[in-house]
Amino acid sequence: MSIGVCYFPEHWPEERLEADIEQMAAAGLEYVRMGEFAWSKFEPEPGEYDFEWLDRAVSLVGDHGMQAVLCTPTAAPPKWLVDEYPDVRQEEPDGTVRDYGGRRHYCFNSPVYRRESRRIVEKLANHFADHPAVAGWQTDNEYGCHGTLHCYCDDCASAFRDWLRATYDDVDDLNDCWGTGFWSQDLNSFAQVDPPRHTVADHHPSRLLDYDRFTNDSVVAYNRLQVEALREANDEWFVTHNFMSHDGLNAYDVAEDLDFASWDSYPTGHVQAHHESVSADEFRAGNPDNLGIDHDIYRSMTDAPHWVMEQQPGDINWPPYSPQPADGAMRLWAHCAVAHGADVVAYFRWRRCLMGQEQYHSGLLRQDGEPDAGYHDAVEAAADLDRLAAATDDDKADAATGDVALIHDYDNLWALDKEPNTPEFDYWQHLETYYAALRRRSVTVDVVSPTTPLADYEAVVAPTLYLADDERAETLESYVDGGGELLLTMRSGVKDSYNKLHDAPQPGPLRSLVGATVDQHESVPESLANTVEYAGRQFDSHVWNEWLVSDDDTDVLGRYDDGPADGTAAVVRSERGTGSTTYVGTWPKPAFADALVGDLLDRTGVETTDPLPDHVRFTRRGDLTWVANFGGEALTVDAPADATWELGGETVGAYDVSVTDAAPSALSIREESR
Ligand code: GAL
Repeated sequence: MSIGVCYFPEHWPEERLEADIEQMAAAGLEYVRMGEFAWSKFEPEPGEYDFEWLDRAVSLVGDHGMQAVLCTPTAAPPKWLVDEYPDVRQEEPDGTVRDYGGRRHYCFNSPVYRRESRRIVEKLANHFADHPAVAGWQTDNEYGCHGTLHCYCDDCASAFRDWLRATYDDVDDLNDCWGTGFWSQDLNSFAQVDPPRHTVADHHPSRLLDYDRFTNDSVVAYNRLQVEALREANDEWFVTHNFMSHDGLNAYDVAEDLDFASWDSYPTGHVQAHHESVSADEFRAGNPDNLGIDHDIYRSMTDAPHWVMEQQPGDINWPPYSPQPADGAMRLWAHCAVAHGADVVAYFRWRRCLMGQEQYHSGLLRQDGEPDAGYHDAVEAAADLDRLAAATDDDKADAATGDVALIHDYDNLWALDKEPNTPEFDYWQHLETYYAALRRRSVTVDVVSPTTPLADYEAVVAPTLYLADDERAETLESYVDGGGELLLTMRSGVKDSYNKLHDAPQPGPLRSLVGATVDQHESVPESLANTVEYAGRQFDSHVWNEWLVSDDDTDVLGRYDDGPADGTAAVVRSERGTGSTTYVGTWPKPAFADALVGDLLDRTGVETTDPLPDHVRFTRRGDLTWVANFGGEALTVDAPADATWELGGETVGAYDVSVTDAAPSALSIREESR
């Protein structure tokens, strides 16, 4: 549990280096990340290398008892490289070239860029192979940032054709699987397939989904070549990548080649990007579940604890609005990261930069080198974590194992992204509805890929299993047969794995689990939003309704209470083996989600709390519970008389945190002056 920082020594006069590093050590920082985007400094002319400036920085970091995390510089190829090999640049669907001048403008499938990347990574890795102060590496930077996962250039066209040749038996197989008879799209050979470039009407959904899968595999292969070069130089280093929040890249796949996953956390930016309305508290400190779901995805990816490789240090340059974060928010975020299982939280960046594209981005230090608000928070967080480390017997098993799994499936995300069928449908938001309901009850949630073994989870929530085949159905059936409690939601079992409708009514292969079929579905604008009577109470739902027809032995738990579907089943529950499946055919608003998730959890042995207010979260890691207050008023927690407060106490100030050894289920909120 430690604090670090991202540092760009190349942005500052050499004379400043020692003072900066001394100050980092004095602040209690333990990791310094460097080298990112510095290719033009490492190799100013083709084949002429200069690593001396980084040698000095790494050695000083080591001399001051800290460790360096180095980055491969490939997210920003230098001008000479782009001039010499202009084809390494990405192309947009309409052929527009993504030119030099920003970053991330390279194509993952360019054979030249792969060769050049391998070359610079090898050089760097060999140079630092024996340096004791280098703890590990970050590959590249945020694959896909600025919407750059997909490229439509000629190198991608030929790589896509090879990918299809390896995926399908022959072109007739592809025609069958995609269903190319529609709009005269039959193909005579793989050579006829192009990337889905600009067209006037929608592209074929099967082709689009395969293009996403191909794109993902391209990133995995590109990342792997870097990982291999790093490990060949020194196989004791860790290798990670800093993923983005709520990304479209299947990070589970990329993480298979990494020692652990890292991600970049900017809570007041992300809440604006992901939520339609943002409260005053959220502008100041973000939303705990919007933040938590990313921690719980990246935590669930590998056996080793995840990192936050970039933590927001104060105001930032890229969201629509950047109010100053609340006093203490930067410390609160570090605590949340650790509570959700992270081992290191590195603030981005050390000092506000005097030049370039991010001058409106704060650092721990102001532009004049004096401490800014984030610095004080980072110093405090570092001291807190030392204190907690001494108080706990933490290990990864405790930190990383939730009682409930929430299935996150990138294939579903990609497919639904192409056909949301209503402006309000958003896969991440749908997931977050259930995640938030679980977290309001203080449950530890693993956000897992669909291939994760489920048997050890007391309950599994699988929102919108849109693409479902027999194999997926059988996995879930055996989970339920063995006593699992499964919650499936609207838009499940709609399509096959090629993104084609099943020829059976929805939920297709999931029919025997659900014990009902979907008679009609409809998207519902807010003006048609509806009520459902569930367990004797009326609740609101929105966005999407499915009118269910249940089998005789299936319980109808909820029925639409108005509109054309009045009286029709909306929520059903079907038992099999020693478990059961609940199917929710609409998108519940929060109170309804609380009731559904509460009933699910009541059928398990999972310990819970009553639903907490949106700005308060209890999070268990190992033998400690963090009480995080994302609100602007103090609150008081009732704890058992023998509870020990390792940090803070029962009164938790605005945007503050307390840590106790009492379990979440033993805590409650006594009073709040809001
Ligand atoms: C991240 C990126 C950093 C920096 C930061 C600004 O997405 O990895 O390099 O641009 O955003 O908030």
